[in-house]
Amino acid sequence: MRLTLNFVSHLVLTTTFTTIFVAASASNTGFDVKPFKIDLAGEIPHLKSLVNSTRLPATALYPNAGPSKGIDLETLRDLRTDWLTKYDWEAQQAELNQFSVVEFSLNVSDHWITVHFVHEKSAEPDAIPVILLHGWPGSFHEFVPVIKPLTESAVTSTGKKVAFNVVVPSLPGFVFSSAPPTTNWNNDDTARIFNTLMTEVLGYSTYAVHGTDWGSGVGYSMYASFNKTVRVTHLDFLAFLPPSAEEIAENNITLSDVQKVTEQRFTFYDSIGNSYFTEQTTKPNDIGLALNDNPVGQLAWIGSKFKLWSDPRAGTPPSVLNNTAILTSVSLYYLTQSFLSSVWIYAQNPTGFQTVYTKAATDAPLLFSQFEYNIGLWPKEYVAKLGNLVSYKVHDFGGHFAGLDNPPALIEDIRDIGIYFKA
Ligand SMILES: *[C@@H]1O[C@H](CO)[C@@H](O)[C@H](O)[C@H]1NC(C)=O
Ligand SMILES: *[C@@H]1O[C@H](CO)[C@@H](O)[C@H](O)[C@H]1NC(C)=O
Ligand SMILES: *[C@@H]1O[C@H](CO)[C@@H](O)[C@H](O)[C@H]1NC(C)=O
Ligand SMILES: *[C@@H]1O[C@H](CO)[C@@H](O)[C@H](O)[C@H]1NC(C)=O
Ligand SMILES: *[C@@H]1O[C@H](CO)[C@@H](O)[C@H](O)[C@H]1NC(C)=O
Repeated sequence: MRLTLNFVSHLVLTTTFTTIFVAASASNTGFDVKPFKIDLAGEIPHLKSLVNSTRLPATALYPNAGPSKGIDLETLRDLRTDWLTKYDWEAQQAELNQFSVVEFSLNVSDHWITVHFVHEKSAEPDAIPVILLHGWPGSFHEFVPVIKPLTESAVTSTGKKVAFNVVVPSLPGFVFSSAPPTTNWNNDDTARIFNTLMTEVLGYSTYAVHGTDWGSGVGYSMYASFNKTVRVTHLDFLAFLPPSAEEIAENNITLSDVQKVTEQRFTFYDSIGNSYFTEQTTKPNDIGLALNDNPVGQLAWIGSKFKLWSDPRAGTPPSVLNNTAILTSVSLYYLTQSFLSSVWIYAQNPTGFQTVYTKAATDAPLLFSQFEYNIGLWPKEYVAKLGNLVSYKVHDFGGHFAGLDNPPALIEDIRDIGIYFKA
């Protein structure tokens, strides 16, 4: 095991946990469902001493190199200083521990896999079960601003009453979930165990899916493979290669001004922004082991993506993606020693971005949200090739981490699942 957490002494048995136990054991007793509390405060002195002793250059080598050359020294120095002097891990940990968090284990081809997940239930009896799927370098933390609001009674954009039972698993190999057992474990395998989580562990016979980044690849796999149980899917990213500007023009697709900005972001990403993708796909051990015990290194590698892939207005309302949010994201990877296993997801899904758009064998409605500063643009005509597209929305605020970058818009769009969901 890569974690030395003491699960048992930190159990807090709330009513919600008890409910989960009953629901789980009613359908299957073989999953070893356990409450889980984060307690990594003991690791903080080691983290701080490494952050403090890491030397950064006194002055930038090429101060005007610009963001296309990677994170700049001043940005990294500010983040590092905040980590050392302002950042309060225990306060962040307490915020994460406000949720009902559970883990379960299952035996896949003779390997035990442990999956960590948040399960926040609504007080509404007819709440829709929804699973929220993160990607890299995200984690369940990026959904913190949307979890509680989604459990509350609200209305869809058409005025229909809606509330959700929210499930947020950590992908295998990310933070508290154990690493996948094999080098060829892929999104379809994750989709299968997450469908098991929703149906057999939690006992929901039908549910909805939301996915972003790699989570949209897992989400699409769930949408296409489990058409009896997945009854509505909402995505804000696709594991299908976005079309180039030339291809869009050849297909006579007209883009709005907001979409044109996103298309330029994709052109940048596709030409000089995805070297990390190649690195993590071909040599995950090199970067994974190099940065395993190097918190400032992880801060540079991951912080660069948070800065570059989000709205330039990040950190100002409605965005909550400020330095604290970036430091919590990196702290979670560092403190659980899961940076290495997280980057392996690229090697394990070498065709991560599929080039051929295929229609899923399902009649379930598909909803899509495009955020202006995301790193890929998927025009409506392309998303429609994948399934039963019923809603396509474009937002002029927010980027790749919508749960942090524009939580109100993400909440509103996920709520629209309620227009289409039939249990
Ligand atoms: C960092 O190290 C210096 C020199 O050893 C020490 O004076 C300072 O208190 C340390 N800062 C933190 C935040 O640990
Ligand atoms: C996993 O399940 C298989 C088949 O049920 C069983 O033979 C095997 O012993 C189990 N493996 C572990 C590690 O428990
Ligand atoms: C795009 O429009 C041009 C000019 O009207 C037409 O010749 C071409 O066939 C169209 N392309 C597609 C893919 O519809
Ligand atoms: C970041 O935003 C959160 C609220 O979302 C706030 O509590 C925190 O103080 C902010 N951190 C910084 C460094 O501004
Ligand atoms: C679900 O998928 C199966 C197999 O591809 C297909 O035969 C069936 O029609 C699909 N069901 C729905 C409701 O789309």
